[in-house]
Amino acid sequence: MKPALLVMGNQILPKEMEELELHFDVIKLWKERDPEAVLQERKEDIVAIASVYFVPVSKSLIDALPNLKIISQFAVGYDNIDLIAAKERGIRVTNTPDVLTDDTADIALSLLLALSRRICEGDMFVRVGKWLNGAMPLGNSLKGKVAGIVGMGRIGQAIASRCTAFGLEIVYQGPRKKEGISYRYEPDLHKLAEVSDYLILACPGGASTHQMVGSSVLKALGSEGFLINISRGSVVVEEDLITALKEKRIAGAGMDVFAHEPNVPEEMVKMDNVVLLPHIGSATIETRGEMGQLVVKNLLAHFAGLPLLTPVV
Ligand code: GLV
Repeated sequence: MKPALLVMGNQILPKEMEELELHFDVIKLWKERDPEAVLQERKEDIVAIASVYFVPVSKSLIDALPNLKIISQFAVGYDNIDLIAAKERGIRVTNTPDVLTDDTADIALSLLLALSRRICEGDMFVRVGKWLNGAMPLGNSLKGKVAGIVGMGRIGQAIASRCTAFGLEIVYQGPRKKEGISYRYEPDLHKLAEVSDYLILACPGGASTHQMVGSSVLKALGSEGFLINISRGSVVVEEDLITALKEKRIAGAGMDVFAHEPNVPEEMVKMDNVVLLPHIGSATIETRGEMGQLVVKNLLAHFAGLPLLTPVV
C-alpha cells in the first residue's frame, strides 16, 4: 500500500504531481468538498504533507495526524508551519531554497524598475491615448540611489547584485552582520529607512519580523522613498502603508505580497503610486518545476531512509 500524502494546495505542476501519485496515495485537500471530514477519515493513514505557503500547517493539524512524519513545503518561506509543534513530535520539515532565488530577485527588480520608471503608468498612458495630448510625468533614475535591503540571505544577496548592476548603492539590515558580505551593514531599521531611496523587504516572515515596518519606518523612508515587499505581507502594517501612500508620506510602493492574500486592500487598488503583483516571486514554469522536484525528492529520500536534500528541521 502506498503511504498517504496530504497535499494542502494547488501549486505543484502536473508532472511533479504525477510523480507524487506514482509513489503516494495523494489526498488533494483543496479539491475536497468537506476537507474536515476527509482529515477525520484519513487521519491515521497520513504520514506526509506537501504544504504551500498560503495554507497553515497548524499545531492542531499536526496534533490531529498521529502518524505524520514529514512536511515538505513547496516554498522557501515556511512561516505557515508551526515548527515548534513539528519539532516536538520529531516531524521533519523541508523547503525549496536556492531554486527560486533568481526569479524572486528578478521580481524585486521588476517592481523597482516599474515604480521608478513609471512602467505601469506609461503602459496605461499609451493604451488610453493620453500620449496624443503630451508627455507623461518624469520618473526617477536609479544610478547613485540607495537600496536598503532588509534581509541579506540568498534572495537579498541576489537582489543586491542586480541593484549593483543598475548603479545603486547597497546598505542592508538584518539580525546580524553577514560574514563575507562587503555591503554596508546598518543594524537599525529606522536608520536604514532614512538612508534608503528604495527600502526592499527580503526577510523571512514569521514572529521575528511581524509588522516590523509600520508608520515610524515609513516616516523614516520619507516622501521620496519607495517601499518594495517581496517577502511576506505580515512584515508590513498594511493600514500604516495605506495612510503613508495616501498622504504621500512615501513616494510609492511595489508589492508582491499582502497581509491577507489573495485580498488586496481596496484603497491600494485605487492608488496610482503603487505597483501590485499577485505573489509571483517564484512563479515561472522553470522554477515551479524545480520546486516541485525538491518536494518530491525530499519525500522520497525520507521514505527511503536517505538524508533530506533541503531540511529545515
Ligand atoms: C514564496 O513566497 C516562498 O516562500 O517560496
